[in-house]
Amino acid sequence: MTKSSAPGKIILFGEHAVVYGRPALAVPVTQVHADVDVVDASRSGIWINAPDVNLHAELNTLPSDHPIASVIHNFLFISRIASFPNLEINISSTIPVASGLGSGAAVTVALTRALSSHLKYEITDEEVNAFTYEIEKLHHGTPSGIDNTVITYAKPVYFIKRPPSPSRRGDGDEVETFRVGKPFTIVIGDTGISAPTKESVSDVRRSWLKDKDKVTEISFTARRAIEQGHWRMLGELMNENHKLLQEMTVSSPELDKLVSAAYEAGALGAKLSGGGRGGNMIALVELDSAEAVSQSLIEAGARSTIITQVTSCDHPFCMDRKTQHSHQNSFSKQEHQMDFGQRSAVWKQRHHFIFSLE
Ligand code: PMV
Repeated sequence: MTKSSAPGKIILFGEHAVVYGRPALAVPVTQVHADVDVVDASRSGIWINAPDVNLHAELNTLPSDHPIASVIHNFLFISRIASFPNLEINISSTIPVASGLGSGAAVTVALTRALSSHLKYEITDEEVNAFTYEIEKLHHGTPSGIDNTVITYAKPVYFIKRPPSPSRRGDGDEVETFRVGKPFTIVIGDTGISAPTKESVSDVRRSWLKDKDKVTEISFTARRAIEQGHWRMLGELMNENHKLLQEMTVSSPELDKLVSAAYEAGALGAKLSGGGRGGNMIALVELDSAEAVSQSLIEAGARSTIITQVTSCDHPFCMDRKTQHSHQNSFSKQEHQMDFGQRSAVWKQRHHFIFSLE
């Protein structure tokens, strides 16, 4: 038997803006995960058992665009294995579906790794990431790639989508992991409303912010705040980011209600997370107020909550995963002394490509 697991994720800063080349931060949520095991079958065919979604079927009886079937068909295609053994594939997941916690990408990552190791077809993390991105495109239109990246590497990521360039092969997005100075606590509140990210992304295309650089500054400063453990600042940045997401029209009365409830219950900051209109919100809390904030969210209408600790990487999911490192964003000592505007100008010079996207 071959097993593989992949965690859920949340976007901390920069959702939607990331589609337009602005930086975004996302972290794995290891309390929830997708789990896949593959065994040789005694019956003929490739059998898929996913009791959470009530699926028990042979691969060829499913439509080829079925989310799970499409992963297997595409994997069979890329691996070019001439004849396939009979398989039983068991899939389960504790990640809530369609709520911005990355359930689809996590199933794809876990399934791809379980198949590759069972069939002894070696696949690198970069290939898993690229493959999962292609699958995400089949189902979600024009994803930025942040979901597949944070789930593949299972580490905090600072992600910048780069426009495709004829001179460059592959996607070449800028992906860095970052250090979490001191672990911090997030309460995730689920509105229980499932809202297609595809629609909110397409609406934002029409109402994209006038001040495009604000969100860039927020993500950029948030990363520094996380690295240095400045939680009050991080909370304020969350509040600011939520306001921008409201301007982009992707919040909703339910999300706003949960964000206010978290704040009133003592959170340091709160915002929606992911596509918006429904799905999840997140609140940054001191560890000892996590339960109170979680309780207030439930009273304000959240269907469920998850309390999660964000750390650099100390979980088996990410222990032996490699991440591309690039130090282009590190600041020199002199740059550290600059104010916000000056740093932003330095940042723009380094990331000039993103400003030609709109
Ligand atoms: O709802 P989620 O977690 O899949 O978030 C989507 C994040 C967006 O920035 C809105 C879209 C994207 O592809 O990055």
